[in-house]
Amino acid sequence: MSLPSTMKAIEITQTGGPEVLNFKTNHPVPKPAEGQLLVKNNISGINYIDTYFRTGLYPSPKPEILGREAAGTVVGIGPGSNPYNFKVGDRVAWLGTSSYAEYSAVPAAKTVKIPDGITDETVMASFLSGLTVLTLAMETYTVKKGDWVLLHAAAGGAGFLMTQVLKSIGAKVIGTAGGPEKVQLVKSLGADVVIDYRSEEGKDWVKKVKEATGGQGVDVVYDSVGKDTWEGSLEAVKRKGMIVWFGNASGPVPPLPLPKLSPKCVKVARPTLFGYIEQREEFEFYVNELFKLLQSGQLKVKVHHVYPLEQAAQAHIDLEGRKTTGKILLKP
Ligand SMILES: NC(=O)c1ccc[n+]([C@@H]2O[C@H](COP(=O)([O-])OP(=O)(O)OC[C@H]3O[C@@H](n4cnc5c(N)ncnc54)[C@H](OP(=O)(O)O)[C@@H]3O)[C@@H](O)[C@H]2O)c1
Repeated sequence: MSLPSTMKAIEITQTGGPEVLNFKTNHPVPKPAEGQLLVKNNISGINYIDTYFRTGLYPSPKPEILGREAAGTVVGIGPGSNPYNFKVGDRVAWLGTSSYAEYSAVPAAKTVKIPDGITDETVMASFLSGLTVLTLAMETYTVKKGDWVLLHAAAGGAGFLMTQVLKSIGAKVIGTAGGPEKVQLVKSLGADVVIDYRSEEGKDWVKKVKEATGGQGVDVVYDSVGKDTWEGSLEAVKRKGMIVWFGNASGPVPPLPLPKLSPKCVKVARPTLFGYIEQREEFEFYVNELFKLLQSGQLKVKVHHVYPLEQAAQAHIDLEGRKTTGKILLKP
């Protein structure tokens, strides 16, 4: 197969706002090194973490092509062994770096074949987000039937999937979301209580959580909003409960004085997906769980919008502007 030498890609050379996302038409096509595959991306996922690398909240070397995941076709295999038996032509999904591009050199160890019957769009609407949600609900805190769970940003990319996973386990879910449309969406997923934490009435969401749980608070809080919600989350969790901080959509949680945890014997976790799927067996375990849920129809995905590659900056504006629900995708 003959490959072009250059490609379209979104490159950033410095940190900043969405305006630093440069659309380039002549970026060199990468060459796969040992342990890598060259993938022609059909569709890429956009995740909130991409904005952290763009702003510099998470430091990373520049110049950089953003993007942590894509689905596409294997068009090249790096030199050396090929332990997972990939072939040119395989339809795959991968986690790695530089997916805002037509081609990416990706780690074979973090690539899987997509089963027939699952579209590239469906995988990308649930891959990084869905794997994260499964690790959070199965490993960070093992959610049990009857647990009270507070989930912030329940209408977002991760939240939309998490609400469904929590309800399928039999948890009682209190979701927060900004605005009436998002509230309706989360209700439609079966959440027991949904609070519009941006409305005048929902501002005191801690009180509402306490009321819903008979004054006890929740067994676990999944908080990916961070700066704006962390204090409320600490109040809303019950004695001996757990707070899982897994994101910074409103900014990072400030350094937490540990004595704040003592009065209620609260446990705190700060997980990342990549920490749970470092080993191939771990990655395959969660991927198989995800594919089973997608194939059985138990997990529904929602694609808010597919942006053409050249509109990556608009995608970031919409994501940070809290205008999206479910997942947003990028078409290289
Ligand atoms: N630790 C991990 O491994 C991991 C993996 C995946 C995702 N995450 C985290 O999970 C979160 C969700 O990621 P996602 O990609 O699915 O994004 P998303 O939920 O689709 O978008 C973020 C949402 O956060 C809410 N939000 C609250 N305050 C905000 C603010 N000041 N600015 C912007 N948004 C605000 C908004 O929903 P409302 O309008 O409803 O408030 C917004 O839609 C992010 O914090 C991300 O970093 C972590």
